[in-house]
Amino acid sequence: MLHLATKTPDSWVDRALAHPAVILLDHAHCEKKAAATAINMLFRYPQHASLLVPLSHLAREELLHFEMVLAHIRRRGDAFDRLAPSAYAAELVKMVRPAEPDRLLDFLLCFAMIEARSCERMALLADAWPDAALRELYRDLVLSEERHHSTYLALAADLYPSAAVEARLRTAMEHEARAVALPAPARDGQPRLHSA
Ligand SMILES: [Fe+2]
Ligand SMILES: [Fe+2]
Repeated sequence: MLHLATKTPDSWVDRALAHPAVILLDHAHCEKKAAATAINMLFRYPQHASLLVPLSHLAREELLHFEMVLAHIRRRGDAFDRLAPSAYAAELVKMVRPAEPDRLLDFLLCFAMIEARSCERMALLADAWPDAALRELYRDLVLSEERHHSTYLALAADLYPSAAVEARLRTAMEHEARAVALPAPARDGQPRLHSA
């Protein structure tokens, strides 16, 4: 079960289908960032033994996803390149409190939110892409991203009392709903995986 406060509107799917190249490029960057995020946590929290193997595993999966999306970008005749990110992740991490142990809990819940929204939107695209190979790719990815969402929640549940996790999860879900409703970057006005 995905913990999200809002459902993605049909209008986002329509915009995504109108801009497949930019959605795939943004998606590739998101997979790369998801791997880097998990690895950063290994550097930031080496004292938390319970994080090490699950986040190492997660980072490797995200890099495989990066390679899979990259292969489809190339198959379509496009090139990987820089892309202005959506405001989503930067907005989301504004909810992270500065002092430990709150900080780690908030990071874990932010990352759980990103996985949940990615999963929800990839599931929509898994039904909507006109390209059968992309539908198949996204059906595969949905299962992994749903598992990653659960992994981050399980890591939080392992380290914090359940009442603290539940209370903060509610805040994270509300904050995430505002972040994902932010418009696409003004530079190109094109949709992103996590923009309006
Ligand atoms: Fe992924
Ligand atoms: Fe993921």
